[in-house]
Amino acid sequence: MIQRRSLSLAVLALSGAAILAGPALAQNLDAIKTRQELMKDNGKAAKEAGAILKGEAEFSADKATEIFTRMHDIAVKFGDHFPEDSKTGGDTEAAPAIWEKPAEFEAALVKYQDDTQAAIDAAPQDVDAFKQAFGQVAQNCKGCHEDFRIDKD
Ligand code: HEC
Repeated sequence: MIQRRSLSLAVLALSGAAILAGPALAQNLDAIKTRQELMKDNGKAAKEAGAILKGEAEFSADKATEIFTRMHDIAVKFGDHFPEDSKTGGDTEAAPAIWEKPAEFEAALVKYQDDTQAAIDAAPQDVDAFKQAFGQVAQNCKGCHEDFRIDKD
């Protein structure tokens, strides 16, 4: 008897929690936040590359590798944060095309992974070589944003 009562109380508590969690479940804010943080880091890495190209920061082969490695890690992780329940909310700029054309989005991710890996492998030793390698990588930003990001700024 006692057992059954505590069970129904537990069920009641659970359904209450489910009602409260409802809107949060419909918008997976954690996934949105995580992927936006990854892209912010991507933006930072690109800025550091830009500073080197403008002569505002010093080039080193180690720094070049670090920038491309950071970008490659982001390219590998980014695609894991687009569950169905994260299409809207949290100021996301993710375009519906991500879920409507998953094969194309996957291809854009793989291209970004491949191009950042190629830049790591190229291991540029001077600013000219760095400029060339970064140029290849940076085409991915524009390409993917055109198709898969709604820029709200
Ligand atoms: C494979 C696709 C893809 C590639 C490649 C890509 N991005 Fe993005 N980027 C996105 C998407 C999608 C968003 C929107 C994410 C969201 O708001 O949920 C985004 C958002 C951003 C943001 C805004 C982050 C925020 O919320 O503040 C910045 C900055 C950014 N990208 C920079 C870059 C740079 C720089 C590169 C290239 C070095 C790049 N991106 C390459 C898909 C991509």
